[in-house]
Amino acid sequence: MSKDTNASANPAAKLWGGRFSEATDAFVERFTASVSFDQRMAMEDIQGSLAHAEMLSEVGVLTAEEYEQIAGGLQDIAGEIEAGQFPWEVALEDVHMNIEARLTQRIGATGKKLHTGRSRNDQVATDIRLWLRGRIDLIGAELTRLQTGLVDLAEREADTIMPGFTHLQSAQPVTFGHHLLAWNEMLTRDYERLMDCRKRVNRSPLGAAALAGTSYPIDRARTAELLGFDAPTENSLDSVSDRDFAIEFCAFAALLLTHLSRASEELVLWTSSQFDFIDLPDRFCTGSSIMPQKKNPDVPELVRGKTGRVNGHLVSLLTLMKSQPLAYNKDNQEDKEPLFDAADTALDCLRAFADMVPALEAKKENMLAAAAQGFSTATDLADYLVRKGVAFRDAHEIVGQSVSFAIEQGADLAELSLQQLQQFSADIGEDVFEVLTLEGSVAARDHIGGTAPAQVRAACARAKKLIAAR
Ligand code: ARG
Repeated sequence: MSKDTNASANPAAKLWGGRFSEATDAFVERFTASVSFDQRMAMEDIQGSLAHAEMLSEVGVLTAEEYEQIAGGLQDIAGEIEAGQFPWEVALEDVHMNIEARLTQRIGATGKKLHTGRSRNDQVATDIRLWLRGRIDLIGAELTRLQTGLVDLAEREADTIMPGFTHLQSAQPVTFGHHLLAWNEMLTRDYERLMDCRKRVNRSPLGAAALAGTSYPIDRARTAELLGFDAPTENSLDSVSDRDFAIEFCAFAALLLTHLSRASEELVLWTSSQFDFIDLPDRFCTGSSIMPQKKNPDVPELVRGKTGRVNGHLVSLLTLMKSQPLAYNKDNQEDKEPLFDAADTALDCLRAFADMVPALEAKKENMLAAAAQGFSTATDLADYLVRKGVAFRDAHEIVGQSVSFAIEQGADLAELSLQQLQQFSADIGEDVFEVLTLEGSVAARDHIGGTAPAQVRAACARAKKLIAAR
């Protein structure tokens, strides 16, 4: 007989063992346990218990003495956990019952009073919210660190000209600063989403008990206040069952990673010898075990790849929640690993980017040379003709012919002579060469959201103000 099929310890050892006449199957015990992963919420569990016990003493369900004993015991247990000396037991299923059993072990019968007026259902919902709120604050801070570095770099690169792309074909010249600010906009919306999610995370489900509330004279507003929640949740059934706040967080994380994957992809392209637009310092790269010449942009590649797992976690949680009847179901124990990993991955990827971005070095000459190729000022020539009274569609046609001619000559538009350009339109004059320069092209896009260096500087100033106001 394998060990798994053996019945384990006696049923009375379980905190819920009273109505059971046979011990849990050893495999079932392991299968239903969550302590291997939910012990990550140990400190939040203790925090929730401390608030619950304090409130119980205030409303007279616990005596002051009992509360002191419980609080002292919980604090000692926190110390044990921090020191890595806590005896976690799979037989005790989860973090909640491990800590509660340990409390009774340490302080005696009073420990058994802690669970008065609550259930693991509101307890776990409280713990997840506390844990997630802490992660949200760390992630928000890291996002801010990244954006600070990004905006600083954009300001330094406000005049640096590079090709702008559509369809990954050279389209119009832009400034590198402008491109970096596009990343920053995506991240600003991510930050807003995160903070919006935080509002819905930061409500206290404690007191919902198993599903219907409790008959003790509890004070839910008080525990909410003690735990720094904005308010208690409204409905006990909803409080113990929905995990939409975790889904929302994963949706935030999936979008964040999607944005970081796009920036990663550009870093991978730009560090390739084909583009050669930037230098990524060696400390963010690794080599190849067989090709000695290689320096691979592993960090951005890995961030790009990690988007897959975070998207997966979002789908996991959506699917976990789908069709669950009210109120709590054991299914919800499956919420933790995807949520934890989504938060860990988001934090790690932000850290990687926040460290990497300030260290990026623009290879300005290469960017400029690339922008000069590919007829990136063709639109400027069309706009020039429109200013001379030519209809835009006709101007488009004239420039198309000029580009075709230039390709035949193996030259760029700015390299054609005035006479050569005039073959296609008599409206072209000597002043055309001002608009065909890259500097003239970017400087002309001088409105809010445009790529002109002056606009990039103004946008950086606005971005800095927004960040400082967080
Ligand atoms: N470990 C459980 C979870 O993560 C705690 C709540 C269990 N509640 C229950 N009635 N079985 O969801």
